[in-house]
Amino acid sequence: MSAPREQFGSRLGFILAAAGSAVGIGNMVGFPVAATKNGGGAFLLIYALFVVLVCLPVMLAEMASGRRSRKDPLGTYKTIAPGETHWMIAGWLSILTPFMIGVFYTVITVWIIGYLFSIIGGNLDVLADPASFGAFINDTDIFIYMAIVAAIVFLILQGGVKQGIEKAAKVLMPALFFMLIALVIFVLTLDNAFAGVEYYLIPDFSKINASVVSAALSQAFFSLSLGMGIMITYGSYLGRENPVPGSAKLVALTDTAVAFIAGLMVLPAVFSFNPNTNTADLSDSSIGMIFTFLPKIFLALQTTIGYTGASLVAAVFFLLVFFAAITSLVSIIEVPNAALMSETGLSRKKSLGVLGVLMGGCAIVAATSFGMFDWTTSFTSYAGATKSVFDIIVDVFYDTILPFNGLLICLFVIYRWKRHNFNEELESGDPDYKGSLFEKYVNFSVGTFIPVILFLVFINTVALKYFGASLIG
Ligand code: PFF
Repeated sequence: MSAPREQFGSRLGFILAAAGSAVGIGNMVGFPVAATKNGGGAFLLIYALFVVLVCLPVMLAEMASGRRSRKDPLGTYKTIAPGETHWMIAGWLSILTPFMIGVFYTVITVWIIGYLFSIIGGNLDVLADPASFGAFINDTDIFIYMAIVAAIVFLILQGGVKQGIEKAAKVLMPALFFMLIALVIFVLTLDNAFAGVEYYLIPDFSKINASVVSAALSQAFFSLSLGMGIMITYGSYLGRENPVPGSAKLVALTDTAVAFIAGLMVLPAVFSFNPNTNTADLSDSSIGMIFTFLPKIFLALQTTIGYTGASLVAAVFFLLVFFAAITSLVSIIEVPNAALMSETGLSRKKSLGVLGVLMGGCAIVAATSFGMFDWTTSFTSYAGATKSVFDIIVDVFYDTILPFNGLLICLFVIYRWKRHNFNEELESGDPDYKGSLFEKYVNFSVGTFIPVILFLVFINTVALKYFGASLIG
């Protein structure tokens, strides 16, 4: 007899943990900047439509299959389709993907905690020089920060689902929300803040084209932690008496609300620093914004609130991003961890130890690929660009395989597990779902146009990333 499956202690715990996974580094800066550059309110509208019409049904497919199988993604594919090799491959992909994304996310989380310590140590002025980022990520001190991040993640995950993941989410998520609101209130009092709000919110439909629409979908899909096996694994820890549809809606709402509110913090701060900011100058990447752009904006606050005040605001911001990153990291590492425990029968602590060595090793290699070692920095080249180990992980797993995994779970749920089982699972714990318009929509969309859309995103990404050709212009 195997031990009974661990479970979240309450529905709220589940929602906070899943929202903790969804709210990540991308919400804090990536989303607001993408919105501002791509049509403001018009982008927000398209994004919200994708969350509701595409992402929410995929989230239900993931959570429902996990709750039924009570297994990690590999176990879910194996239990529902025993002995079927092609579904086994899908199962392995959904373990390998979070493993690799966990590796690159660890590296970014390490930089965030490094910046946080550096600011607390009085070095905001140093970090405000954009050139210092290159020096920082190539300093061997990052391996000390990596050990700290690994220790925090280990500490949370060894506590298990209820005493570890759920407890951490119950502390970190409210704290994150509180800091976010405090920062929004603060930046809105700065001069010219409302110019930023205007840029962020006023719709400009002329900026909407096929690639903006595709970017909005990818952003929504990543932001809700889909295609990484996380919602399957967390679903497997949810008791059958709890509603899946209602909980998924709250997770999606929380994630979108946090991304939206983060825009009310970032854009006013940028425009108060320079009311004539050209939005085209804002970096497309969250990394560029967080590590090279925002520190100089924080430093500029010293003219009004002094150096210590400016450092305090910057520290709160980095702590906030760190909390968002750690709850996401915990969720993604729990996927291979759950699979390893169930495949080998290892205890939670031992399994985490094994993963720590494997993922830690890969993270060290990835962290050296910014100039520390030539071999990892210029690992290969494709589509006319030199690629580091870190770039390859991002391109292959984050950009390419995620929509593919989403496509596979949709096909699996409807055509292998079968529609009636999917419906029955979603109705359990949520009687209002049965016969609702939403149920009809989810049924139709997951079996038809959502996999088609995800397939198109996948094909377009492959063309763009590896052949340098965009199919949508
Ligand atoms: N929703 C997360 C984010 O927006 O950052 C996506 C994520 C990425 C979750 C990486 C977990 C992770 F390790």
